Amino acid sequence: MSTLLHLQSVEADISGSRILRGVELEVRPGEVVALMGRNGVGKTTTLKTITGLLPVRTGTIVFDGQPIHRLATDVRARLGIGYVPQGRDIFPHMTVEENLRIGLVVHGRKGPEAAAALERVYELFPVLKEMLGRKGGVLSGGQQQQLAIGRALLLDPKLLILDEPTEGIQPSIIEQIGDTLRRLRTIPRSDGTGLAILLVEQYVDFCRAVADRYYALDRGAVVSSGAIADLTDEVVRVHLQV
Ligand SMILES: Nc1ncnc2c1ncn2[C@@H]1O[C@H](COP(=O)(O)OP(=O)(O)OP(=O)(O)O)[C@@H](O)[C@H]1O
Ligand SMILES: [Mg+2]
Repeated sequence: MSTLLHLQSVEADISGSRILRGVELEVRPGEVVALMGRNGVGKTTTLKTITGLLPVRTGTIVFDGQPIHRLATDVRARLGIGYVPQGRDIFPHMTVEENLRIGLVVHGRKGPEAAAALERVYELFPVLKEMLGRKGGVLSGGQQQQLAIGRALLLDPKLLILDEPTEGIQPSIIEQIGDTLRRLRTIPRSDGTGLAILLVEQYVDFCRAVADRYYALDRGAVVSSGAIADLTDEVVRVHLQV
C-alpha cells in the first residue's frame, strides 16, 4: 500500500530536553489517522516536526515520495500539508472573509483560482458564507473550528493536520465536528485523490467515531498502533486515560 506521510525514528529536542524519542508513524492517502496520548507526551511536538515549526534532531520525514524534514514550513505547506494548530489560531478581530483571504495570501493564490478555492470552502461550510462579515471572535467554537479548517483547505492539501479540534468545544458541537471530518474525506481533491487527515485527539470516543487507525504516544514514543477497531480498553487504560 502506498504511503503519503512517513516518519522514521524521529527525535526532537525542545530547549535541550529530548521530547521525541524515535517516533514511527505512517499516513496513507485518504485515511484518517488519530495520534493519541495524554497531556505533554509530545503530540503537538510531533506535528511541529511534520510542518517544520520544529527541526528534527535525527530521523526522516517523507511526504508524497520526498524527504521534507529539511524544508521550510511554507514549502511543506505548498507540497500539500495543511495545518490547523491547537487553539485554532483564527484572528478574532478580523471578519470571517478576512480570515479566509489571509489564508489565500499566505498560499499565494489569486484571481479565479482563489475564487474557486473559496467556493469549495463555502460549499463545505455554508455557515461561513452566511457569516462572512462577522468578526471571527464572535463565532461559536464549532464555527471557529470550521473557519480554521476552511482556511487550511484553501491550499487544497493532500494531508490535513488537526491538533485537538474538540478541545474547549461543547459536547453537542463535537458531534458536528466529527460529521465535518467524515464529510471532508468524501470530497474529491482537485487531482481526484481523497484527503488524508492526521488528527491529534485525546477524546477516545471521538477517535473511534472518525479514525481508521491510531497511534498511541507515551513519553515521546509510539507505544501502540493499529486499526482503531483494535484499540483495546487495556491500551486506553495504560496509555491514554487521564
Ligand atoms: N516551548 C516549550 N518549552 C519547553 N518545553 C516545552 C515547550 N513546548 C513543549 N514543551 C514540553 O514538551 C513536552 C511535549 O509537549 P507537547 O506540546 O508536544 O505535548 P502534547 O502531547 O501536545 O500535550 P497537550 O495534550 O497538553 O497538548 C511537554 O513535556 C512540554 O512541557
Ligand atoms: Mg498539544
